[in-house]
Amino acid sequence: MDRRKFLNNLSVTAVASIAGATTLSAKADALEDALEDSLEEKFRIKPSHCYIDTGRPKRAADDKRPYYQHDEPLLSKMPKAPTLMDFYLQRFPTNHVTQSARLALKRGSDEKVVLACLLHDIGLNIMGTDHGYWAAQLVRPYVDEEVSWAIEKHQALRFFADHEVGYEYPVRYLEYFGEDYVPEPYLKEEHDRAKNHKWYMTAREITIHDVYAFDADLQVEVQEFTDIIGRHFKQPKEGLGFDGSETAHMWRSVIWPNNFL
Ligand SMILES: [Fe+2]
Ligand SMILES: [Fe+2]
Repeated sequence: MDRRKFLNNLSVTAVASIAGATTLSAKADALEDALEDSLEEKFRIKPSHCYIDTGRPKRAADDKRPYYQHDEPLLSKMPKAPTLMDFYLQRFPTNHVTQSARLALKRGSDEKVVLACLLHDIGLNIMGTDHGYWAAQLVRPYVDEEVSWAIEKHQALRFFADHEVGYEYPVRYLEYFGEDYVPEPYLKEEHDRAKNHKWYMTAREITIHDVYAFDADLQVEVQEFTDIIGRHFKQPKEGLGFDGSETAHMWRSVIWPNNFL
């Protein structure tokens, strides 16, 4: 172990307890505790958010459960048969996707594209990595095949400019990933395949409206798209998560993200 690095990374509490120990043996115990904490952090394999954090304000004083299971006081309770709108109102961050959907609408895009814009980043609620694929999979049973295809492909297309249709490599990616960042070959291959597909422009439109949809001063309510959702999203009557579809478990994971099991 790099001793200097370990000591530099000790928490303030650990340093205070080592410094505050009055005997050599107490100091050794405090050091050992700090070492264990550091190892646990390094090799943690369970999602820590399952545990009930005693410091969180909404935990009732008499709540002695060690884990969350279908009842997390910090999250709002969703209806028994949740609709897509319920997910937007209670779980999904909305302003970026609603801004992009409004841009699509204003620029005269097809309603399918507007819906795709509205859905394109909801995969981020499950996984940041490959979020386009997660979002596409999540909605596949409920939307037109073109919509889920386009959502999936936006993942790769974002990294490749298409000057002919006015899509440039996002400036903020230079800042996020560095000027020398080169997308992995699988992304290039996905881009190349998508480029020759009949639905290429549907996916490309998502990326075009995406880059301008980060206005911190603009609030776009999701209810603006109620009719479009109603026309193009096949809402199951049992509710998302409870209709036995191949992605029902993914919707349930959004409803109860911190379940222990
Ligand atoms: Fe995205
Ligand atoms: Fe986006």
